[in-house]
Amino acid sequence: MAIVYLNGAFLPEAQALIPANDRGFIFGDGIYEVVRILEGQVFAWDGHAARMTQGLAGIRIEAFGAADVAALHDVCTRLVRENDLATGEATVYLQVSRGAATRTHHFPPAGTPATVYAAAQRFTPNFAMRDQGAKGITMPDIRWARCDLKTVNLLGPVLARQAAKEQDAYEAILHRDGMVTEGAATNAFAVIDGVLRTHPLTHHILPGITRAILMELVRELGIPCEERPVSLPELPGAAELFVCGTTTDVQPIVTLDGKPIGTGAPGPITVRLKEAFAKRLYGRA
Ligand SMILES: Cc1ncc(COP(=O)(O)O)c(C=O)c1O
Repeated sequence: MAIVYLNGAFLPEAQALIPANDRGFIFGDGIYEVVRILEGQVFAWDGHAARMTQGLAGIRIEAFGAADVAALHDVCTRLVRENDLATGEATVYLQVSRGAATRTHHFPPAGTPATVYAAAQRFTPNFAMRDQGAKGITMPDIRWARCDLKTVNLLGPVLARQAAKEQDAYEAILHRDGMVTEGAATNAFAVIDGVLRTHPLTHHILPGITRAILMELVRELGIPCEERPVSLPELPGAAELFVCGTTTDVQPIVTLDGKPIGTGAPGPITVRLKEAFAKRLYGRA
């Protein structure tokens, strides 16, 4: 049985019990992260830790600060070892909620400890889908106004990904007020008139760790890129479209709502970035 981490202890999953009045369960009142593990090492830890710290501060979970987040690095590596995942690829899910307390909308009494949970699992990238491209659909972005915070309240993405699955698609590309924001669980990029474009970092998108690495690679490779939203009418005419994320890497989207994007095959800018990102991730070509 999997060994998981709960509130300072490493224990079999079946023994990891959380009180029913935990605010993560009752309100979705918590922050999470998903990190990628390669050969026992956490990829891009500093970015994930910084985002988690900002997210916790953003929803005012004061019982778990930057030093507590930093200590989760070693929780990740120990979980990986305990679960025999130190070779190959894995992911670790980390969650911090505002803790268990009598149900009130306002915060629980000062001193209520946060509930801290982490679990590791084997991860196998879908290289065939990355190479061939995947289907996407478009959906209205029904999420709240602070999508920059990685909260466990994920109903918007849950409904969007289910709609995608029912249409045999990988991802739902979300739009708000006529502008593409991001994917349900990814950031989105499109090539329009030879320029790579993605939504700027506002409250309407998650500041993706993969997105940040791609922005570095774009500069290194000299690919023209603008942080400017793509409008919904522009999207079907994009020459290329891809989404990115910790478990998605760079994933070309080759059909959208049943119609081909560009030639209907992964485009040249997407492929260059996909390869450059793979090199960064795996440390080789
Ligand atoms: C809404 C959303 N956008 C973007 C991403 C990609 O972020 P990252 O690259 O940090 O995994 C995620 C990841 O889960 C996400 O949920």
